[in-house]
Amino acid sequence: MLSQQAGDSGRRASLHGNWSSRMAFILAVTGSAVGLGNIWKFPYIAGANGGGAFVIVYLFCVFLIGMPVMMSEILIGRRGRRNPIATMALLGEEEGSSRQWQWVGVLGVLGGILILSYYSVIAGWTLAYVERSITGQFTGASAAEIGALFAEFTGDWKQVALAHTVFMALATLVVARGVERGLEQAVRFMVPALLVLMLALLGYAISTGSFGRGVAFLIEPNFAALTWDGVLVAMGQAFFTLSIGMGAVMAYGAYLPEETSIMHASAAVVIADTGIAVLAGMVIFPIVFANGLDPASGPGLVFETLPLAFGQMSGGVVFATIFFILLVFAAWTSSLGLMEPAVAWLIEHRNRTRRQAAVMVGMLIWIIGFGTVLSFNELEGFRFLRGTIYDNVDYLTSNVMLPLGGVFISIFAAWVMCRNSTADELGGAGNAYRAWRFLARFVAPIAILFVFFQAVGVI
Ligand code: PHE
Repeated sequence: MLSQQAGDSGRRASLHGNWSSRMAFILAVTGSAVGLGNIWKFPYIAGANGGGAFVIVYLFCVFLIGMPVMMSEILIGRRGRRNPIATMALLGEEEGSSRQWQWVGVLGVLGGILILSYYSVIAGWTLAYVERSITGQFTGASAAEIGALFAEFTGDWKQVALAHTVFMALATLVVARGVERGLEQAVRFMVPALLVLMLALLGYAISTGSFGRGVAFLIEPNFAALTWDGVLVAMGQAFFTLSIGMGAVMAYGAYLPEETSIMHASAAVVIADTGIAVLAGMVIFPIVFANGLDPASGPGLVFETLPLAFGQMSGGVVFATIFFILLVFAAWTSSLGLMEPAVAWLIEHRNRTRRQAAVMVGMLIWIIGFGTVLSFNELEGFRFLRGTIYDNVDYLTSNVMLPLGGVFISIFAAWVMCRNSTADELGGAGNAYRAWRFLARFVAPIAILFVFFQAVGVI
C-alpha cells in the first residue's frame, strides 16, 4: 500500500510511499546489506589481512559501531521522511542546530555514486560468470585454468565494460520502478535462496578435507599480522557490509511505517548480514587451502575458488549457475540502496520523475565506472596513493567516507537530536535505548575517529 497521509502521531509522511509491511522493510534493508560485500569482499580482505584477528575486529565493529549507527540512521530517516540531504537539513533546523547538516547527506549521495561505480563492475563480473557457468567452463578445470579464465576475462576491458553496462541498466530499471514495485519484489526470494545455496556449498567445503584449516584461518587471531591500516579496513568493511554511513539506510528508513521497531529490525539485519559473511568465509577458505591457493590474492579470490568447487562437484553446472545468478541478485538489491539517495534528491529538488532521475543517476555512475573497468587491464599500471583507480575509489569510500558519515550520523542522532525525539522513534527510554544512546554518543564516534587517525598516522 502506498500511503501518503500523515502518520497517526502527527509525524510526517513520506513523499515516495511506504513499505507495505515491517517484513518488507527488513527484507529491503537486508537486501541492501547482503551483497558483494559479504561474499566477494569480506573473504578477500580478510584473506589479505591475515584472517582471525581481522575477523574479530570486524565483528566488534559490526556490533558496537555498526548496529548503533544503523539505528541512528534509520531513526533519522523516519523522522525526516525525505531524501538524506533534505532530511538532514530539515532535522538540523527542527532540532535547533543548523541546516548545514545537509552536507552529511551530500557526502552520502556522493559516496553512493562512487561505491556503485565500482560495485557495478564487480557485479558485471558475476553476470559474466553466469554465462561461464551455464556453458560448463569450470567442469574439471584445475586451479591454474580457473585462474587463467579470470585473468583473461578481466584483462579484456571490452567484455568487462559490456557486463558493467548490462548491470547498470538492470539497476536503473528497478530504481525507476519505485519503492513498492521495484525494491520490494526483488528481495523477497533472494536472501533465503542465497542462504540455502551457501549451506550446500558449506557441505562441499567440509568435504575438501581442509575445512579445519580454513576455519582456523578465520578464527585464530594472529594480531601480529594486523596493522592499524588493517583495523581501518575491518571497520570500513563493517560500514560497507551493513550499507551504513552514506544515507542508503536513511533513505529506506524514510519509507518505514511508524509502528515498526527500529531496534528489532536493525538486529535482524545485522545478524543476517554477519551470518552470511561468516558463512562465505567458511566456504571459501577451505577451498583456498585444499587447492594451495593464496588467501591474500585479492579481488579475484571468490572468482578463483568457487568455480573450482563447482567444477569438481556433481551437478556443478547447475549449482554454479544458480549461485552466480543469486550473486547478481544480491548485488542488484544492494545497488538500489546506493542509487536511492541521489534519485530521491533529484525527484524532490529538481522536479524530475522517478524514471528520469534513475536514468540520470545511472548514466553518471556508468561513466565513472570506467575508471574501475580499466583498472584491471588498460590502466592496471596506472597507480597512485593506494594503487589503481579501483583501489583508490574503494579505499576512499569504505575507509574514509563511510566512517566519516557514521561519525556525523551518530553525533547528530545522539547529541544534536533531543532525547524526546530519539526515544519516541526508538520506542521508549528503557535499557536498550540507554545502551543505544551510550554507544552512539561515545563509543561509535570516538572509536571511529581513533582508528581513522591511527591508520592515517595523525595521532
Ligand atoms: N552492503 C552492500 C554489500 O555488502 C554494499 C552497500 C554499501 C550497499 C552501501 C548500499 C550502501 O554488498
